[in-house]
Amino acid sequence: MKFILNREIMETDASPSFHTLDFLRKKGFKGVKEGCHEGDCGACMVLIGELTDDKVRYRAINSCILPLGKVEGKHVVTIEGLNLDELNPVQQAFVDEGASQCGYCTPGFIVALMAYFMNADLKNTDIVTAIEGNICRCTGYNSILRAAEKVNNKVLSLDSTKERIQALVEANYLPTYFLQIEDKLKEIQIQPQLKKGIFVAGGTDLFVHRKFVDDPVFLSELGYDKIWSDEEYIYVGAAADIESIRTSEDLNALFDTANHLIRVSSLPIRQQATIGGNVVNASPIGDLTIYFLALDADISLLLGENRRLIKLKDFFKGYKVLDLEEGEILEWFRIKKKKRLLSFEKVAKRMHMDIASVNSAFSCRIELNHIKESHLSGGGIGPIPKYFSKASEYLNNKEPSVEVIKEAARIAGTEISPIDDVRGTAKYKTLLLRQLIYAHFVKLFPELEVSF
Ligand SMILES: Cc1cc2nc3c(=O)[nH]c(=O)nc-3n(C[C@H](O)[C@H](O)[C@H](O)COP(=O)(O)OP(=O)(O)OC[C@H]3O[C@@H](n4cnc5c(N)ncnc54)[C@H](O)[C@@H]3O)c2cc1C
Ligand code: FES
Ligand code: FES
Repeated sequence: MKFILNREIMETDASPSFHTLDFLRKKGFKGVKEGCHEGDCGACMVLIGELTDDKVRYRAINSCILPLGKVEGKHVVTIEGLNLDELNPVQQAFVDEGASQCGYCTPGFIVALMAYFMNADLKNTDIVTAIEGNICRCTGYNSILRAAEKVNNKVLSLDSTKERIQALVEANYLPTYFLQIEDKLKEIQIQPQLKKGIFVAGGTDLFVHRKFVDDPVFLSELGYDKIWSDEEYIYVGAAADIESIRTSEDLNALFDTANHLIRVSSLPIRQQATIGGNVVNASPIGDLTIYFLALDADISLLLGENRRLIKLKDFFKGYKVLDLEEGEILEWFRIKKKKRLLSFEKVAKRMHMDIASVNSAFSCRIELNHIKESHLSGGGIGPIPKYFSKASEYLNNKEPSVEVIKEAARIAGTEISPIDDVRGTAKYKTLLLRQLIYAHFVKLFPELEVSF
């Protein structure tokens, strides 16, 4: 396996399932810290640069849940690879603002911020989002934000006519070797082949803690990660990452997807985790699964040459039991390219970086004051991500009113089988689901002035 590690091309025969964090620390890159080893804290963050449309695009990724096979042909940058002869301006701002206390989280914050300065539309993006996947146990958040904003203001004054990486190198934010990476990456590109083995998309479910996967087959590198559309449908490749889906122009032209999906995990996880992994993992609370159930998605499944198309709602047969043959790939999702009302609600113990206790989504069209094509889904209230067929059917051809909404929520309540677990009691989840269904209607039909 070949990739670029900071300044050098690295060749290794380590297992493609080896966790990148463990590999880096073994190689002596101890600036990459280990905190949780499950994608939650950001201490292990590295930059991953890859060729996209012949340009290098960098993202901050948690190396603890990143299998080494996914960095093949890419550029891995640790905190050591960002060092200059003196502190770089982000590091210096952390010193000036007292943003580093014990210092354990600091490399992760510097890496996450550097990714932001390398990519973001600095005037319009929220810098807090860039560091939402980083936890500082010493609670130095105000000083960290002050340092980040200070650098942001400086980066804003750089020459905006130049490519950002070029401008950052010239202003001494990044080492000069970054300018040679594009050519070096072109030299080490490989053509991945589909072979037999365990499919790995983002790996954010498969590689939590120190799990190993025999014979991993990396789907994102095989071209299943595109989002495209034709006259009738928007197609989402199963290996498309959640952040690409959240920011997709096609989806945002129809729905408020950017805001709906901001509640899914954190930026580094969203950049890694895929919709296909979310669905095949079959967690009853998978956010993307619930979202696409309410969009009445079709899915394409591919086994060898044989392709079959089914409704996403028919994919789930029981707890983690799927209509999926051995070796069959979930290839893509498609939804009708049609404007609809869509609401997504999620209740979790924390606003961000948390999986749902209960989540729900609802979509419909309104024709002559009547609800049409209604689709209601919910998670955390049974063994599978639930499509509420009876409640959805009931809502069709009704005029929205408080009575209708209450009846729909009552019917949905007859379609669930929640259990007591760490996320709440069955009673609590039943109540939450009802409130989330009410919330969809309060949000989508403000003119009704419904109160419950
Ligand atoms: C810190 C953290 C926070 C998280 N927060 C959230 C959250 O807020 N909401 C949420 O819903 N989830 C969350 N998750 C869970 C996880 O990130 C998602 O479920 C994610 O979408 C899984 O996708 P993946 O590509 O990483 O899956 P992978 O780990 O790559 O794969 C999961 C399973 O699906 C199979 N698979 C993947 N793609 C395909 C395919 N195309 N065809 C056939 N089989 C396939 C794999 O073989 C594997 O069995 C979180 C995870 C972490 C670590
Ligand atoms: S060690 Fe915590 S996110 Fe990787
Ligand atoms: S400075 Fe100690 S964890 Fe952040």
